[in-house]
Amino acid sequence: MSSVSRRQWLRTTSLGLGASVALPGLLPASEMSRVLGGGVSYATMLDQMERDVTAARRAAGPIRLHFNENPFGMSPKAKDALMGSWAQHTWYMPPIREEIRETFAKYVGVPADHVLVTQGSSEVLSILALAYNMHGGEIVAPWPTFEDLPRWGETLGATVHKVPLDHRMDHDLYQMEQKINGNTKLVFVCNPNNPTSNLADDQALREFVTNSARRSTVIVDEAYFDFVNVPGHKSMVDLVLKGQPIIVSRTASKLHGLAGLRCGFAVARPDIIAKLQQYVTGDPNVFGLVAGKASLLDTEYQAFVKAKNAEGRTMLMDALKTLGKNVAPSQTNFVFFQAGRPVEQMQKYFLSKGFVIGRAFPPYTDWCRVSIGTPDEMKQFVAALPGAFA
Ligand SMILES: Cc1ncc(COP(=O)(O)O)c(C=O)c1O
Repeated sequence: MSSVSRRQWLRTTSLGLGASVALPGLLPASEMSRVLGGGVSYATMLDQMERDVTAARRAAGPIRLHFNENPFGMSPKAKDALMGSWAQHTWYMPPIREEIRETFAKYVGVPADHVLVTQGSSEVLSILALAYNMHGGEIVAPWPTFEDLPRWGETLGATVHKVPLDHRMDHDLYQMEQKINGNTKLVFVCNPNNPTSNLADDQALREFVTNSARRSTVIVDEAYFDFVNVPGHKSMVDLVLKGQPIIVSRTASKLHGLAGLRCGFAVARPDIIAKLQQYVTGDPNVFGLVAGKASLLDTEYQAFVKAKNAEGRTMLMDALKTLGKNVAPSQTNFVFFQAGRPVEQMQKYFLSKGFVIGRAFPPYTDWCRVSIGTPDEMKQFVAALPGAFA
């Protein structure tokens, strides 16, 4: 280790004596392997990283709890992989493209020809809109939900049926089914749903997806699948393997903390993958692929993020319930609750306490969406909570 990089390392982590507020993204990752080699366990390093990240985020300004990002950033092993990927970013057709496809295919249990790697999972949605709605047609989607597919559909001139969620904020499967007709090109479901954070009834949604796929192509957005803590909950990837026109989208943006590096996945029948491939807007960035592959293999980091998210989520939901607030049963990395006053007022209050929270999602204009930060951040957030209702 050069003395400069050692100095840098000591300065940027509280394993050293210096300030522990440098942005964690700037840590020289290859040094992490040396620390590992020097006898510090990975679990200890992750604990250390939690403290560093919490301090760095606080020092960087108001804490971002508005975009459902992973507060811990990428896995140290992903960072290491980036540091070692010096050549592939200069190449066209780098081998990492096929490598991550195979790694993700194994991760979800499908053959590699069932996978398309994209620039974040929003690209799956834009490709779908292009591939199926270039010439109009209709889309059926719950509302509110993640807006990209409805937005793209409308941009391309499709008729989008936005079916209001039911009184429990679940997809209204009966009403959605009523909207499917001979002109329907895509049916969208999002499970767990954004912004409402709740998981649909597994059996009912499976039946809906299976039945709808006899009449239309169905897209199942599983961006938050990795945060679900319900025993027995299954991805819909197995339905893809039954040969139906079903597409499952997943992302490296959430659990893996790679939102800025843009890495997502579509799982579908090979003929559908081939069709979608025709509409990709460009190759994904090599750095996203390198970090994504390393993170998919880093199960210890994934377990760490999931456990910390569950800790912060429980803390926030319990505090809200104690205050008598309506809280949706979150299975994601964010919580949706009824403030009983305009979201803009809540945003202003929390900003004054050093937190940015989500925007309004009509018609739920008095409900707030708050992403889960580190446990320490959630402690501070919970302490500020009663003042919001004073
Ligand atoms: C439900 C849902 N799907 C997809 C996305 C897009 O994520 P990305 O394009 O970063 O993979 C998001 C982002 O917040 C989301 O909430």
